[in-house]
Amino acid sequence: MKALVVGGAGYIGSHMVKHLCRSGVQVTVLDNLSSGYREAVVASAELVVGSAADANLLASLFARHRFDAVLHFASFIQVGESVADPAKYYANNVATTLTLLDAMRQADVRHFIFSSTAAVYGEPSYVPIDETHSKNPISPYGRSKWIVEQVLEDYDRAYGLKSVCLRYFNAAGADPEKELGERHVPETHLIPLVLQAASGRREAISVFGTDYDTPDGTCIRDYIHVADLCDAHALALDYLLAGGASMRFNLGNGQGFSVQEVIDTARRITGRKIAVRYEARRPGDPARLVADSRLARDVLGWKPKRAELTSIIADAWGWEQKWPW
Ligand code: UFG
Repeated sequence: MKALVVGGAGYIGSHMVKHLCRSGVQVTVLDNLSSGYREAVVASAELVVGSAADANLLASLFARHRFDAVLHFASFIQVGESVADPAKYYANNVATTLTLLDAMRQADVRHFIFSSTAAVYGEPSYVPIDETHSKNPISPYGRSKWIVEQVLEDYDRAYGLKSVCLRYFNAAGADPEKELGERHVPETHLIPLVLQAASGRREAISVFGTDYDTPDGTCIRDYIHVADLCDAHALALDYLLAGGASMRFNLGNGQGFSVQEVIDTARRITGRKIAVRYEARRPGDPARLVADSRLARDVLGWKPKRAELTSIIADAWGWEQKWPW
């Protein structure tokens, strides 16, 4: 089995590459290292440094390898930045993906796994959110992912390209063996920021909004361990290679935790003091995002193994303690 992993030097991609290599898949990583790290790619994978927007590079890669599938993790992910600079998001998250899909078509590679997001739903009209919930993304980031999902439906009908779109809720945690973890610059995600406050790398954690309609007034999210996301990708790959139809799945635990609960849990796990600054709401944050992931469980047989918030935070803390990486 040969797979091309685009964005395999980034946070979730690098964990997936390790997972695939462990299960005997021959992996080629294509990453331009704009936010990924060479050292995050496990040694048994081939790393090609370059852009998925480079059609010539793609053609030569597809000519050199007979890939069974492509997994696409490379995208910009900051919601706020996407509002300020939508062109950057549509160019990378949409146009580059189209170039990649063209190369796949020319090489007749018909299995594609796409990293999508809960942001395709926008402000939820009910929780937990299932896959049939209306799609009203409220940011260019969410819209860029939703556009690609729709393109993939057309490509299936017209070209027989089979895809699985995985709509991540709040990806978090790190490789339990501490070889890999979250390393965004700038970091904007709650759990790594809370742990930076615990380790002393950051003075305090800012809590964005305390007046939401939730029990403690802070936002509720569904955190999902990166290792569980990898399991879901591996199952999705098996599913597609066995001839499965194109599908879209939510990936979350189905349980929400508030920002305050995350901070309290991090205090318990780290045994450290974590200073908190209570601030105004961050624009565009829904009060509650919780996944209904029954479809992934039923169709793929996916079962998160590290669903507890404590294990997500403990693994992320293992990685934070290794800083500077
Ligand atoms: N938060 C804080 N302080 C911080 C950072 C975050 O209070 O310093 C809060 C946020 O306001 C939010 C929660 O913690 O309520 C989680 O925020 P994250 O930035 O960690 O994650 P988001 O829920 O905003 O984003 C995630 C994914 C995005 C995706 C989005 C879908 O990371 O890629 O869900 O809505 F687009």
